[in-house]
Amino acid sequence: MARPSALAAALLAAACSAPPPKPAKPMVRDVHSHSNPHQVRMTHLDLDLDVRFDRKILEGSATLTLDRLDPTAPLILDTRALDIRKAEAAPATGDSFEATPHKLGTPDPNLGAPLTIDLPPNARRVRIHYATSPEASGLQWLDPPQTAGKKHPFLFTQSQAIHARSWIPLQDSPGVRITYRGRIRTPRELIALMSARRDFRLANPKEPPSGDYTFRMPHRIPSYLIALAAGHLDSRYLSTRSEVWAEPSVVESAQKEFADTERMTQAVEKLYGPYQWLRYDLLVLPPSFPFGGMENPIVTFATPTILAGDQSLVSLIAHELAHSWSGNLVTNATWSDFWLNEGFTVYVERRVLEALYGPARAAMESVLGYRELKDELARLPEKDQILHIDLDGRDPDDGVTTVPYEKGALFLRALEDAFGRERFDAFVRAYFAHFRFESITTATFRTFLEKNLLALDPAAAAKVPVEEWITKPGLPASAPVPVSDAFQPVEALAAQWKTGTPAGAAPKDWTTHHWLHFLRAFPPDTPASKLAQLDQAYRFTQSGNAEITGQWLIMAVRAGYQPAFAKLERFLISVGRRKFLKPIYEELVKTPAGRGRAAAIFAKARAGYHPIATSTIEGIIARPR
Ligand code: BES
Ligand code: ZN
Repeated sequence: MARPSALAAALLAAACSAPPPKPAKPMVRDVHSHSNPHQVRMTHLDLDLDVRFDRKILEGSATLTLDRLDPTAPLILDTRALDIRKAEAAPATGDSFEATPHKLGTPDPNLGAPLTIDLPPNARRVRIHYATSPEASGLQWLDPPQTAGKKHPFLFTQSQAIHARSWIPLQDSPGVRITYRGRIRTPRELIALMSARRDFRLANPKEPPSGDYTFRMPHRIPSYLIALAAGHLDSRYLSTRSEVWAEPSVVESAQKEFADTERMTQAVEKLYGPYQWLRYDLLVLPPSFPFGGMENPIVTFATPTILAGDQSLVSLIAHELAHSWSGNLVTNATWSDFWLNEGFTVYVERRVLEALYGPARAAMESVLGYRELKDELARLPEKDQILHIDLDGRDPDDGVTTVPYEKGALFLRALEDAFGRERFDAFVRAYFAHFRFESITTATFRTFLEKNLLALDPAAAAKVPVEEWITKPGLPASAPVPVSDAFQPVEALAAQWKTGTPAGAAPKDWTTHHWLHFLRAFPPDTPASKLAQLDQAYRFTQSGNAEITGQWLIMAVRAGYQPAFAKLERFLISVGRRKFLKPIYEELVKTPAGRGRAAAIFAKARAGYHPIATSTIEGIIARPR
């Protein structure tokens, strides 16, 4: 019989480790991967990489553990611009890796190149020795001047949607889930973080950075959630399970801004069940990070542009945290099912805001989101207005619009309205519990919805045209329309301005939400003279808030409002968040003079942009009118 201590250890190990992989199910084809998981499927990854700032490359090996469903098939992996040096194969255990033939196929502009590796009959693991390219689409290498501290370089990854393949050869499809371990070597003074449990603690001053770090992710995750960052980092306490990492000069303001992180986590837990990832940490990146946030498990990556000083932009934290359930626990199986990730996440995000800050705050955010959705629906081709979007032959980034986010959330809101909060909450809780650590398609969701919600109350179900929500463009006539009482005074003030009367001061307690709604109340033909008056009254050009600045600069470009142009240039050079860059550049290229200005600013800013932002902006500037 096992001694009690051994038994306890075994129980603890069982409790800490992931549930065993479920038997392989027939998979839907992912048009964004060359790989063959229906024949040979990776189940675990061991990464061993040197971070080489001198050459802007990662160099080392990736060892994949395989499930050979078809014993005769070779292994096919996704790669993009990788320098593959050697492939080796080995049985399940031991160290007897032996070279095995491999072949890199012709690269596809969207998908990269397939890497086919021959598998000897007993092979259960392959090891690939490789290096990344300095232009890897999923990596951004920052020189010291591009960081807050200006002294040390910085590296971060962004794997979603299909960029993991630019830094790791693997089956880069969200339908394939793996556990992983990482060993990362950096220059000594830097700290590395991965989207995994780290085997070091910084809180102990006796443990200075070693430049050699190990990580483990015990749960099965899709490849787009594998992440790495290395920089001169410090951390601050948020709660027993959360801390925030950032460059030393930023970390304290981040600690203040994110003080509600634990309350947010508890709010989601209360709604949808326990947090499953042990820790929830945050990493604030330099301003060139191309997104607002990225839900890398255990450590969310975030833009510094949400450090507004007044917590007015923390909905982004609620959003990335919510992904710990919607997305990281239950994952879209293909990028056509992306709305399952983002629609649920926006829905949960608003529920968190409501729980922490009250319904008025949640309502304001819903109204702002609805407005963005309506504006974008008016511009998008019909095929891109569909939740279950067809992305065959396209970059999955083309599907990243407000549709999966806001239309997805509105659909869930419609279900909540029809069935009542209590029943809908129970359904969502069951959904997360049932599909935890799985990747699912829209069809699987629909089957579950039918059985666990719609069938319970046909009268309520009749109110929600599910087929139309999921497969048709636009919004159903019965779609809910978010409203916010808090915006009434905002609209009144804007109306006064629009009739020509410079209006008085705004209430002191207006937050970013009020101001965004205020600015968006002005039509596209608002002239520079009106902007000058607004600027004099409310100092928009001087705003330190990135959301307000972003909106204001779009209006300034439209109107040709010169006094904002210096700010425009500074903003476009210092901030790399695509959500801000894209609409401003799009507005600029509408006139010949603006196009010239866009090209000139881009020439200066380009070196500081992430490859993902660079390709978006290049597309806008190159596009013929
Ligand atoms: N997972 C997304 C970011 C993403 C989506 C990266 C698709 C690459 C491809 C993240 O959760 C997200 O949605 N971020 C938003 C913020 C959010 C508050 C709407 C962003 O970055 O703006
Ligand atoms: Zn998201």
